[in-house]
Amino acid sequence: MTQHVDLLLTNIGQLLTMESTGPRAGKDMQRLTVIENAVVAIVNGEITFVGTVESAQGFKAETIINCQGKLVTPGLVDPHTHAVFSGSREHEMALKQQGVPYLEILKQGGGILSTVEKTRKATEDQLYEKARFHLDRMLSYGVTTAEVKSGYGLEPETELKQLKVAKRLQENHPIDLVSTFLGAHAIPQKYTNNPEAFLKEMLSILNQIKQEELAEFVDIFTETGVFTVEQSRAYLAEAKAKGFGLKIHADEIDPLGGTELAADLRAISADHLVGASDKGIEKLAESGTIAVLLPGTTFYLGKEIFARARKMIEEGVAVALATDFNPGSCPTENIQLIMTFAALKLKMTPEEIWIAMTVNAAHAIGRGDSAGQLVVGRTADVVIWDAPNYLYLPYHYGVNHVNTVIKSGQVVSKRRDVIDSTSSSKS
Ligand code: NIG
Ligand code: FE
Repeated sequence: MTQHVDLLLTNIGQLLTMESTGPRAGKDMQRLTVIENAVVAIVNGEITFVGTVESAQGFKAETIINCQGKLVTPGLVDPHTHAVFSGSREHEMALKQQGVPYLEILKQGGGILSTVEKTRKATEDQLYEKARFHLDRMLSYGVTTAEVKSGYGLEPETELKQLKVAKRLQENHPIDLVSTFLGAHAIPQKYTNNPEAFLKEMLSILNQIKQEELAEFVDIFTETGVFTVEQSRAYLAEAKAKGFGLKIHADEIDPLGGTELAADLRAISADHLVGASDKGIEKLAESGTIAVLLPGTTFYLGKEIFARARKMIEEGVAVALATDFNPGSCPTENIQLIMTFAALKLKMTPEEIWIAMTVNAAHAIGRGDSAGQLVVGRTADVVIWDAPNYLYLPYHYGVNHVNTVIKSGQVVSKRRDVIDSTSSSKS
């Protein structure tokens, strides 16, 4: 029987389906479904067939893409970015070279606070155009779903402006976006001596954020010189009571106990975790809170010690990976580079890395049921890679291996010559 389809991907050398019933924790992160010589069929933006070439009979396709033996995977998911901001911070590079610590730059009114100054001055349209540029780049690196945080306003008006920009992008950009309110990202100078009053001001806009559906998650930077564990606990408890999911920038630089807090509050994710304690890691495993690791940031901050991914996986934690793309601690949209850091600095296996950037990343932002897997019935978010197998990406580093990105069944980014024919020929 002939089946009419819109798009048929043929001659796939290696297909990773990333099929999974839930987030993958511990040893389960090692298991991948790999199909050699595979075919994928897409109808109305949805995957309707995944299988071997032998089992793919009788397709009649509008468009056929001959993948020439390349690797094909689900679109990647980047579950932690700060992609809406104004300006840049290249002048901080010299300070870094002189050994001025990240938190010291912040204390002197630079760092996050300097991006806040520029973001406050920018119009909504300016922020939109700049963020669109960064999202286009993320898409070109194979990301089809991403989280984006506010946090460069630190005042109601600008925080809402950032979230509105994210909402417009969610409506117009091919990347599926998930928004997080990070009003508690730093203490603005006006409130240096009264952080509690500042947190109260941020909490005062939660109702509006909820009503206008401007964010699903609330996040806080729990760190020395920023917010304490106790302040964070009270703040997040209130956000939870208003129906928001929780995230924490936890133990990024100093080991304060944000990891334990994330587990106690049943946060959906705890992010960074460089200084996470043994107890904190055990608690993450118990609570099911996903550990979002950001090795690009640890690298860029010039640290020797990275998050203990091996310990987390041994203890049964579900680990995800993200860029943390932002203008200060990790100015890169290149999620493929993060794969290499994860392999070399976190000692994660290639299988764990792929799980961490698809299935687990999707679960870390509440999209486990829609993103991160290439299976029948899901939206066709697919990447064709200029790579012979999945081991290749963490290995060959610093360049973009994307050949073609397909979002909801449409080719949205194409770099080189896969044979693409509009024809009625069969697979
Ligand atoms: O995840 N640590 C706090 N926030 C970001 C950095 C933001 C910035 O430096 O602009 C992070 O590292
Ligand atoms: Fe961050």
